[in-house]
Amino acid sequence: MPTPPLSGSAPFPPPQRPRRVAGAWAALAAAVFLSAVHAQAPEAAAPPSVYAGSEACALCHEDIAKAFKTSRHGVLDEDKKRGWEAKACEACHGAGAKHAESATAAEIRNPAKLAVAETDRACLTCHANGPTHVGRIQGGHARNQVACTSCHTVHHAPTAKVVAPAANIGAQNTRCAECHTSVVAEFKRPYKHRVPEGTMGCVDCHNPHGSFLAGSLRTVSANEPGCLRCHGDKRGPFAFEHAPVRLEGCSSCHQPHGSANPKMLTRPVVGQLCLECHANLGAQPASTIGGIPPAFHDLRNVRFQNCTLCHVKVHGSHVNRALLR
Ligand code: HEC
Ligand code: HEC
Ligand code: HEC
Ligand code: HEC
Ligand code: HEC
Ligand code: HEC
Ligand code: HEC
Ligand code: HEC
Ligand code: HEC
Ligand code: HEC
Repeated sequence: MPTPPLSGSAPFPPPQRPRRVAGAWAALAAAVFLSAVHAQAPEAAAPPSVYAGSEACALCHEDIAKAFKTSRHGVLDEDKKRGWEAKACEACHGAGAKHAESATAAEIRNPAKLAVAETDRACLTCHANGPTHVGRIQGGHARNQVACTSCHTVHHAPTAKVVAPAANIGAQNTRCAECHTSVVAEFKRPYKHRVPEGTMGCVDCHNPHGSFLAGSLRTVSANEPGCLRCHGDKRGPFAFEHAPVRLEGCSSCHQPHGSANPKMLTRPVVGQLCLECHANLGAQPASTIGGIPPAFHDLRNVRFQNCTLCHVKVHGSHVNRALLR
């Protein structure tokens, strides 16, 4: 799928709709043209009608119009290239001349009242090619009817539930926390990332729009887990890999949301963690079974229970097969 960058001279697909038609007599011609365009456009369900222009909307919706000018979507009103010059309101609300005359709710589209898929489609007309949206279909939000507007407001003051790159991390986390209360509880454990403090965000690890990895995990360079963006020293390629690091991922040994155990490990004692895969217990899933420690490992001896005392390169080694250095 082509993913043109969001910045640059033409970040969005070329305009598919005609420019604003000035002069009332031209409205009829516009209506004919528009209904043809609307026939292929996603919002085909809305009754075809005529554009009123943002100035007309502002007459009755003064506060929204003011806030809108300072929002990121405000550029739509000024930018000739995007096809919504002077009628940006109607990019999301549909042609609104009828509503501007009647002032009845029934004659204007309100994304908040649409089915989730329809709301999303209205936004995706312009945003589908955004690089962060490529894993959308796999993402839990799209699959569970969490609309774009659950997280983004478009023309409200910045204090509203806006989450955008410019917004502060704490506000974003709060938004996520509203629905994910059990995850928030995990971050109250003693060993955790500094998410509750607001120095790190849920979106440092997750792409809220979805991704190709399980758990909508963010990816770095190609399809590596996003953890490696900050923990680059755990990235290979290692001459001697530790199989689970690459195959099962970081969460086979760490609890990324927080843990009662030091280093956010899944087990309180390191030896216990290692022996889940490195013991002849016969109960593990076959795919995770590692080799059995050679006989000189006296596992009753405390010294040997602390495996990482000797196997220090537990994430992979450049020089030693037994991950000793
Ligand atoms: C003449 C005044 C007037 C103009 C001009 C006007 N509106 Fe409205 N608009 C209203 C009123 C009044 C309501 C509330 C209607 C109701 O609640 O029944 C409303 C409601 C709305 C709603 C909410 C509908 C809903 O289902 O809740 C939207 C969206 C909207 N207007 C957008 C627009 C847009 C976009 C324009 C410009 C194309 C526009 N309005 C122009 C008076 C106007
Ligand atoms: C990028 C899409 C988009 C644009 C552009 C846009 N709106 Fe909206 N509008 C929405 C969404 C989404 C809602 C539903 C409420 C929400 O989630 O904020 C909404 C709701 C509304 C409402 C209902 C009342 C409310 O506050 O919920 C009015 C009125 C309205 N918009 C007017 C306008 C006007 C006037 C403009 C132009 C100055 C405009 N909108 C531009 C997306 C847009
Ligand atoms: C007509 C095209 C168009 C539509 C429809 C549209 N957007 Fe946008 N959106 C834009 C443009 C243009 C920008 C500004 C991008 C830039 O500055 O690079 C933008 C920016 C954004 C941003 C980033 C804001 C920021 O602060 O960085 C978010 C979030 C966003 N849109 C969400 C939405 C949502 C949600 C909807 C549906 C309710 C929607 N958009 C519908 C064109 C559109
Ligand atoms: C309006 C409620 C709501 C908000 C807000 C919300 N989520 Fe979700 N999220 C859900 C639902 C529903 C699911 C699917 C069911 C589940 O897995 O719990 C989900 C699933 C997930 C998953 C599981 C992975 C997947 O793709 O299935 C992750 C990760 C996630 N959300 C992260 C976030 C982050 C990060 C934020 C804040 C930017 C956020 N969520 C905000 C409702 C929400
Ligand atoms: C679960 C919450 C959530 C949902 C649902 C959501 N977003 Fe976002 N979105 C965010 C967050 C958080 C960011 C900021 C990401 C960051 O800072 O890395 C963001 C960023 C953006 C941006 C700006 C930068 C970028 O990543 O492209 C756009 C545009 C955008 N979202 C559009 C949309 C659209 C369109 C939809 C619906 C199809 C949508 N979002 C659904 C949370 C959400
Ligand atoms: C340090 C990275 C990291 C941070 C920060 C993070 N997560 Fe996660 N999250 C993960 C990993 C890794 C998984 C496991 C994914 C898998 O293997 O399926 C996960 C799984 C999830 C899941 C699905 C399974 C579950 O536990 O319910 C949800 C929902 C989720 N995270 C939400 C959040 C929210 C909300 C925040 C912020 C409060 C957040 N995450 C912060 C890394 C992180
Ligand atoms: C945005 C950067 C960032 C990302 C992404 C990130 N981490 Fe971290 N991680 C940190 C920082 C900074 C610390 C230092 C601890 C602190 O914040 O107090 C840390 C600490 C840790 C620790 C504990 C170290 C110790 O000495 O106790 C583990 C384990 C860890 N991270 C694993 C992960 C895993 C697994 C992922 C991916 C699911 C991940 N991290 C993603 C920044 C990050
Ligand atoms: C096979 C289990 C295992 C896997 C898989 C694993 N780790 Fe670890 N990790 C550990 C153990 C054990 C420690 C504690 C080492 C010690 O006690 O000296 C640790 C410590 C850490 C630390 C803190 C100390 C340090 O070395 O910086 C970070 C950060 C970390 N791991 C990140 C990651 C990341 C990121 C991944 C995924 C790429 C990952 N781990 C995968 C077992 C694992
Ligand atoms: C999730 C399962 C799992 C966990 C937990 C795990 N390992 Fe492994 N380990 C493996 C697998 C699989 C291999 C590769 C075995 C092979 O190639 O035959 C491996 C390989 C090794 C090797 C290289 C020797 C060899 O047999 O190739 C050492 C040393 C090792 N692990 C030590 C540890 C230590 C120390 C811990 C605890 C910090 C640990 N492992 C935790 C699965 C695991
Ligand atoms: C006192 C240091 C020390 C401790 C503690 C230790 N090991 Fe070892 N381990 C070694 C040495 C030395 C080797 C042999 C390397 C060789 O044969 O070249 C080895 C070999 C291994 C191997 C086989 C590696 C291979 O190349 O085939 C595994 C698996 C292993 N250890 C797992 C563990 C586990 C699990 C623990 C914790 C329960 C542990 N070790 C604790 C020193 C230690």
